[in-house]
Amino acid sequence: MRYGYFDDEAREYVVTTPHTPYPWINYLGSERFFSLISHQAGGYSFFRDARMRRLTRYRYNNIPADAGGRYLYVNDGGDVWTPSWLPVKADLDTFEARHGLGYTRITGERNGVRVDTLHFVPLGEDAEIQKITVTNTSSETKDLTLFTFVEFCLWNAQDDQTNYQRNLSLAEVEIEQDGPYGSAIFHKTEYRERRDHYAVFAVNAHADGFDTDRDTFVGPFNGLGEASVPRAGTSAGSVASGWYPIGSHSVRVDLAPGESRDLVVVLGYVENPDEKWADDAHQLVNRERAHALLARFATSEQADEAFEALRTYWTGLLSTYSVTSGDEKLDRMVNVWNQYQCMVTFNMSRSASYFETGIGRGMGFRDSNQDLLGFVHLVPERARERIIDIASTQFPDGSAYHQYQPLTKRGNNDIGAGFNDDPLWLIAGVAAYIRETGDWSILDEPVPFDNAEGSEVPLFEHLTRSFGFTVANRGPHGLPLIGRADWNDCLNLNCFSTTPGESFQTTENKAGGVAESVFIATMFVKYGAEYADLAERRGLGDAASQARALVDEMREAVLTHGWDGKWFLRAYDFFGNPIGTDAKPEGKIWIEPQGFAVLAGIGVGTGPDDEEAPAIQALNSSAEMLGTPHGLVLQYPAYTTYQVELGEVSTYPPGYKENGGIFCHNNPWVIIGETVVGRGDIAFDYYKRITPAYREEISDVHRLEPYVYAQMIAGKEAVRHGEAKNSWLTGTAAWNFVAVSQHLLGVRPDFDGLVVDPQIGPEVPSFTVTRVARGATYVIDVTNSGERGARGSLVVDGTPIEGNLVPYAPAGATVRVAVTL
Ligand code: GLC
Ligand code: GLC
Repeated sequence: MRYGYFDDEAREYVVTTPHTPYPWINYLGSERFFSLISHQAGGYSFFRDARMRRLTRYRYNNIPADAGGRYLYVNDGGDVWTPSWLPVKADLDTFEARHGLGYTRITGERNGVRVDTLHFVPLGEDAEIQKITVTNTSSETKDLTLFTFVEFCLWNAQDDQTNYQRNLSLAEVEIEQDGPYGSAIFHKTEYRERRDHYAVFAVNAHADGFDTDRDTFVGPFNGLGEASVPRAGTSAGSVASGWYPIGSHSVRVDLAPGESRDLVVVLGYVENPDEKWADDAHQLVNRERAHALLARFATSEQADEAFEALRTYWTGLLSTYSVTSGDEKLDRMVNVWNQYQCMVTFNMSRSASYFETGIGRGMGFRDSNQDLLGFVHLVPERARERIIDIASTQFPDGSAYHQYQPLTKRGNNDIGAGFNDDPLWLIAGVAAYIRETGDWSILDEPVPFDNAEGSEVPLFEHLTRSFGFTVANRGPHGLPLIGRADWNDCLNLNCFSTTPGESFQTTENKAGGVAESVFIATMFVKYGAEYADLAERRGLGDAASQARALVDEMREAVLTHGWDGKWFLRAYDFFGNPIGTDAKPEGKIWIEPQGFAVLAGIGVGTGPDDEEAPAIQALNSSAEMLGTPHGLVLQYPAYTTYQVELGEVSTYPPGYKENGGIFCHNNPWVIIGETVVGRGDIAFDYYKRITPAYREEISDVHRLEPYVYAQMIAGKEAVRHGEAKNSWLTGTAAWNFVAVSQHLLGVRPDFDGLVVDPQIGPEVPSFTVTRVARGATYVIDVTNSGERGARGSLVVDGTPIEGNLVPYAPAGATVRVAVTL
């Protein structure tokens, strides 16, 4: 069952009913000011940091769901409704929410009144704009009163939900009913003391009234759906003083049949680092910057222009990689939604979604490096900055803080270090950046350790330390020690926690164990080899050969001590016993080492028919034991009881999260692995199982947005198999984009050129990829037999070439590549 459709031309998902299984959201903003917005206009806004600079309130975990947003109430002769359906929930004659790239347009109609609201954050502005168009679609005159509404958050979102004894006496606002650009409300709580910022909420019209006190607007014991001011039909003129500050204007709109009227509503963030006050008595905030903002959005034409600029920006970004394949689902994921999700994930890391409250986590060291794989082609200069930020938190021994804070860019001591996969992801990020850009100068960039001034060394030295960290921390089988955990945060082999509620990631680890990770070993084979390539190209031939020897050693260790007979082992526990073995009743096989070993080229053999090759055996075992129609589960069989020597993985009921859920982040590793052995048909089949556009028809089962990946889909042993959770902010976005763009469609940047090596199977017999790389455009036409093991032969600008590397052309050139396989 569907709840909408893709409008590919407009690059929108159109939700056609308010009654989706869950709020389906979008993100506004791409620089400093961000908003989350659901198809029912729920959500909130913040400036840069979702915890420290929250502008508006949102209630996670609320009954009913999706409580808090930017709402517009309509009073039509006593009939009160909201075009976003929530919060009033009056029946609508038509409803539509269009989620586009950085904007959402919600249209609701009732009794001959249509209200269309376009929400977006313009480029270069710290503000969310609502461009509202009200139309009288009836044959009678309509005398309407509209009420805008937002509820302000007292900046620190954590404190806002906990510290009521202080907060309820703080709120202050200023009201400017007849300002130079309409009517404005200034939310200035704590401005009197140390803050130099406030929020402004304004409409570009004379407001007939206003409210700033929530209790007055809503009425005692009412919900937002029964708010008393819109029902009364006139604003009460309340002035917030303590308690709960809100912003609301009322605007009378009289419309003849067929007539429309536009309004522009602005929610802005203003900082006054110098002149805070407009007067010496410190009574009134300096409104200059707010007025300048409102002046830029004083007319609907100005709003339209800003919106056009946003559309153009996205068209430009998405022109770097596109495909036409004849499979509309594939095209819309590759060309629009997967790349869009990569950008949002880059902007948000894991901070603010409908599953992440924006007050919890900083930027993950490993997460950010992997996210980079998905957006480096879109905004390479921002990727460069991100790399330097991440590397600056590394420790001199090569280990890393697990997280760092985006505002301070410092390592986060609360979470600490000791996740032994972290260092290697830095190599992954840097190598991807150089392949995309050719900017070798980044390796010479001076970068400190743990942000300590004076400790700067060239970035390349950081990579050497990353590599060296794994080498220096190996266990009895020559495999890397796991530390607190590896990529799988829930595989806590040294933790042995028996205290309820204690964090598996941060509690004191038991010393003296020998827990090793086969997964980190496979990473080392992949990224150790990349490190050696970088060293070689820096003229460090000896270092490169030494590194390669160590990589060879590790590959051998994986094949000897990391092999269970039909698949790769997952790890060795504290006592040196294997994990991920057929010898145990549960957790027999784990996805991570199967996918990553094969994508690293371990045990690949001679091709798709080499049934003896460990890679093929591991992939076949994965298909058999991990496969489900909804994707591959993380491990199988899931643990049915808590295993103290394994940690958090066994805390989830079977089939959820890391305990046998379909953790979508690692499915692309297997997809890539299948392309490595030449089985594109299987790879594409796996791709379709988890990719949202292919799951749109089962939206009632999947339940989350059909346009973005979710972190997890409940696994085959779960009660709710097939149901997704944690949409939007997940490494799944980046890795699936890598899988589909670089391996299924097969166009991937390398140091000296674009490798063209499609492996997508017979279902996509021909396609064209347009790729902009280092300023040149490559138009790549593929004719594909889909035969297993077939590799393309290439004709570049009319001349056949050996191999599959198309050398980089000068910026501005257009190169035509014809591929047949
Ligand atoms: C979450 C974390 C990520 C981790 C994964 C598996 O997605 O953000 O860092 O690798 O879970 O545990
Ligand atoms: C929990 C989650 C996991 C996440 C980790 C770190 O263990 O299950 O997905 O990576 O927390 O925050």
